[in-house]
Amino acid sequence: MDVLQEQEVAVAERLLKIKDMSNTIHEEVQNYYGKELQQSSDLKTTACCTLTAPPKHILEALRNIHDEVQDKYYGCGLTIPDQLKGLRILDLGSGSGRDCYIAAQLVGEEGFVVGVDMTSEQLAVANKHLEYHREKFGYARSNVSFVKGNIESLDELGFELESFDLIISNCVLNLVVDKQKVLNDAFKLLKKGGEMYFSDVYADRRFPKTLQNNPILWGECLSGALYWNDFLNYARNAGFTDPRVVEDKPIGVDHKEIEALMGDIKVYSVTYRLFKIDGLESECEDYGQAVSYKGTIDGATHSFDLDDHHNFPKGKMITVCGNTYKMLNDTRYREAFDFYGNWNTHYGIYEGCGGKIPFSKTADGEPTVSCC
Ligand SMILES: C[S@@+](CC[C@H](N)C(=O)[O-])C[C@H]1O[C@@H](n2cnc3c(N)ncnc32)[C@H](O)[C@@H]1O
Repeated sequence: MDVLQEQEVAVAERLLKIKDMSNTIHEEVQNYYGKELQQSSDLKTTACCTLTAPPKHILEALRNIHDEVQDKYYGCGLTIPDQLKGLRILDLGSGSGRDCYIAAQLVGEEGFVVGVDMTSEQLAVANKHLEYHREKFGYARSNVSFVKGNIESLDELGFELESFDLIISNCVLNLVVDKQKVLNDAFKLLKKGGEMYFSDVYADRRFPKTLQNNPILWGECLSGALYWNDFLNYARNAGFTDPRVVEDKPIGVDHKEIEALMGDIKVYSVTYRLFKIDGLESECEDYGQAVSYKGTIDGATHSFDLDDHHNFPKGKMITVCGNTYKMLNDTRYREAFDFYGNWNTHYGIYEGCGGKIPFSKTADGEPTVSCC
């Protein structure tokens, strides 16, 4: 066997291993979410539990959602960004459909939401209430559909490439074995300027194999959680060059035996937004650009939060790095901002959100601070 053949065999063996592991985990997860759990309060820990109160417009949308759908909600964050009118949205691991039905109201009748889940019982609840919600929203036709499928095979579910404006997901990636594949496929399904906006559980280190093999820890969204640096590398490999944190919170597991098994491992619920934009830089660079928010986004009349460190008060000119400029200018947010500057002047790395000097001394001979 030559080197190329050996490499091909190694890749095939790796894929077979992932497939074997996936099959076992799928059965366990389907059993957990389809049979073991009947409602949110059956969860043993607080890992799959949204921590912050939703804003007013989401609370209003929640009031229209059927109790049975809400009872079977197992999300860990708020996965509904702003400015959704008219969008085509895909929800990965949509469960009983709560987030799909919230989004369906915000995209309006001209938008559309597709939910994918592999657990029949969860899908049955989601589908059962399609007509209830259509009527409640006052739409002539339902703008939601649910598809049974495995999100590790998104490329086999018949979705057109670059056909979604937004991909959301709530507490699901941690339950999946081939997380890189899900991110790769999601990137391909997004239109240019689209984004993946999702909440999940992350850990401060890699979970040991013994804990990954524990079906309760996996089912409770704990031991499948990615070490956050692994996630950042997967996201960048998929093409999402500059992942942005929207919100993060430590999770208290609140279960003595599970805490004992986890030892020092700490877990967090984090909402990330990953834009699909050409030419984003791996380090934010300053081109001397600025933006001013017009106050036109629904639910954000006075100020708009792009992420956890970019707040734009209405009417105030704010300097931004090149990546942030693109996240506002090359996306659905474009109409909501005035833009200033161009790409002709380069001021180097923007200290506010980029890297530090990668050398031991500054130009003045002062020692620099290492990031490690
Ligand atoms: C923690 S629940 C979250 C459900 C929903 N997002 C919510 O917020 O209520 C995880 C869901 O992901 C689904 N799921 C897990 N792995 C999946 C996979 N590989 N493909 C499709 N669905 C999956 C499960 O069936 C379950 O409904």
